[in-house]
Parts: sequence; structure tokens; C-alpha cells
Amino acid sequence: MGPMIFSFLVSFTTLSLSALVTLSSSDELFYHNCGNSFKCGSIAGVGYPFHGYEEPEYCGYPGLVLACKNNIPTIRIVNVEYRVLDIDQTTKTMRIAREDMMGDVCKLDLVNTTLDNSPFEFASSYTNLNFMYGCHFSVFPNLIQIPSCNISGNEVFLLPETGFFNLGCESKITVPVEGWDMAMNLSNLGQAIQSGFKVRWKVDSEKCRDCAGSGGRCGYDFVTNRTTCYCPNPPYTAETCSTAAGALPTTAPTVPGMLLCL
Ligand SMILES: *[C@@H]1O[C@H](CO)[C@@H](O)[C@H](O)[C@H]1NC(C)=O
Ligand SMILES: *[C@@H]1O[C@H](CO)[C@@H](O)[C@H](O)[C@H]1NC(C)=O
Ligand SMILES: *[C@@H]1O[C@H](CO)[C@@H](O)[C@H](O)[C@H]1NC(C)=O
Ligand SMILES: *[C@@H]1O[C@H](CO)[C@@H](O)[C@H](O)[C@H]1NC(C)=O
Repeated sequence: MGPMIFSFLVSFTTLSLSALVTLSSSDELFYHNCGNSFKCGSIAGVGYPFHGYEEPEYCGYPGLVLACKNNIPTIRIVNVEYRVLDIDQTTKTMRIAREDMMGDVCKLDLVNTTLDNSPFEFASSYTNLNFMYGCHFSVFPNLIQIPSCNISGNEVFLLPETGFFNLGCESKITVPVEGWDMAMNLSNLGQAIQSGFKVRWKVDSEKCRDCAGSGGRCGYDFVTNRTTCYCPNPPYTAETCSTAAGALPTTAPTVPGMLLCL
């Protein structure tokens, strides 16, 4: 009798434990793991489609990952790091500025500012400034307003985008600026660049609204490549959750509780 009960207990415990392990690796965790909103510096309460750097990937839309460095919120878009100056989730816009140019606009990394193939588009009017460097000329008519930076020992010239000039420069970096004015000097140009530009994220928010309204938490399904909904109760992943927010959880009792019942 004794050994039988013992072996029954052992196999029951083993069963319960394996059930728990199965549960832990199941969809149930999606809801629990995606409960944090992003907070950093002056920005708080930012949720889906964004997610914080430390959160699981499935909590946010691909590419909409916010980081926090020394209390400064940043986002990486097409290989450029931007400072996030503000976020407005109702208009789906945010104001961003190139992080490399926040100290000294002349110390920019040699990468273009582009939103191509990103989930963002420009959301306000702007002028694309070309920082031209490695140019094979020393004097140029006064079309070039601000010849005052150096990149890798090369003088840098600035041109608002025209598409007209081919000045024989080695390369150029484009940087968008709002309120460009030919009369700008390096100081107020710097301020304009550091005030950033507005972008809009091209992610439908309707599905997430419905999900949140049903008591779920929004996430991203990397199989269907779509916004999905994580629920506190089964089914843990759905279009919307079937039970209203605040409903009592109907999940199975935990392992310690089951052992106590024995
Ligand atoms: C930036 O983009 C322009 C085209 O818009 C290109 O000519 C230039 O080489 C690019 N610069 C770098 C550093 O990639
Ligand atoms: C930029 O570099 C050139 C060539 O190395 C140098 O002659 C010039 O003084 C530098 N200008 C500035 C503003 O540092
Ligand atoms: C830059 O221009 C602004 C306004 O035009 C002016 O007030 C400021 O003194 C100028 N700064 C420098 C360093 O020239
Ligand atoms: C989802 O996106 C990945 C990567 O872009 C792609 O390989 C996959 O085919 C997509 N799946 C669907 C269902 O569109």
C-alpha cells in the first residue's frame, strides 16, 4: 500500500509539475509580460505599438522600440539613433531629433536621415539639408550659407535640397529641418535641428483599441505579422478577449494548492 501511494504521489506531482511547465511556456505569459508602459525622462505611459527595449519583442510592433539612456528616450530608425522629444499617441506622431547632433550639429555621424522602409513617415513640412563634404572646390558663390563644420578634416558645406547641384563632393548627408531659412547661421540652425521634426507611425490602432477595450493587452504576432491581443484567460491569444476587464481569472489552481488538497 505504502509504496503505491508514494508512487501515486510522485507521479501526480510529476504530472502537475509538467503541467505547470507547459503552462509557463504557453501563451498565458504574453498577457503578463506585456503589461508595462514605457516611461523615460519627460515621456510616460507609452504603450503599444511601442515597447521598451527590455520588454519581449512580441509586446510591440517591429521597429517601434524605445530605449532609455541617462533618462533620455531614444529610438533607432534605419540605423540612426534619435532622441524622442515628445510622443502623441492620439495623433500617432512623435517629434524626434538626431541624437548625434544634439551636442554639436557639426559632429554628425556619416549616415543619412531616412524613413524609407521604416514604419514612419514625415508628419510636418521640412527642408532636407545636405551636409556636403569632401568637396573639390574652395570658393563657391554665396549659395552656400554655412561653411563652418568639419567632418573627418573636410570642410562641410550646407545646401538646402535642390537636386540641381552636382558640386563634385565626395558625399552628402541629408538632415531634415523645420523652418529652414537661408539667413540661418550655425547657431540657430543648430537649434532648429535639435528641435527635431515630426513623424507619424503607419500602424493601424483600431485593432489595439478593440483589444484594450476587451480587457486585453496588445502585441504583435510574428507568424501572421499583425497586431494581436493577449488575454488574461483562455484563449490567451485572440482578436479580442472574451471576458471583460476585471473578470475573475478562471485559470487552474497552482501546484502548491493542488498538493495541499491531497
Ligand atoms: C545619402 O543619400 C544620398 C542620396 O539621397 C546619397 O547620394 C549619399 O551617398 C548618401 N550618403 C551616405 C553617407 O550614405
Ligand atoms: C576644417 O578643416 C580644414 C582642412 O583640414 C581646415 O583648413 C579648417 O580650418 C577647418 N575648419 C574648421 C572650422 O575647423
Ligand atoms: C544667428 O542669427 C540670429 C538671428 O538671425 C542672431 O540673433 C544671432 O546673434 C546669430 N548668431 C551668431 C552666432 O551669429
Ligand atoms: C511575416 O514576415 C516575415 C518576415 O518579413 C516573412 O518571412 C513571412 O513570410 C511573413 N508572414 C506572413 C504570413 O506574411
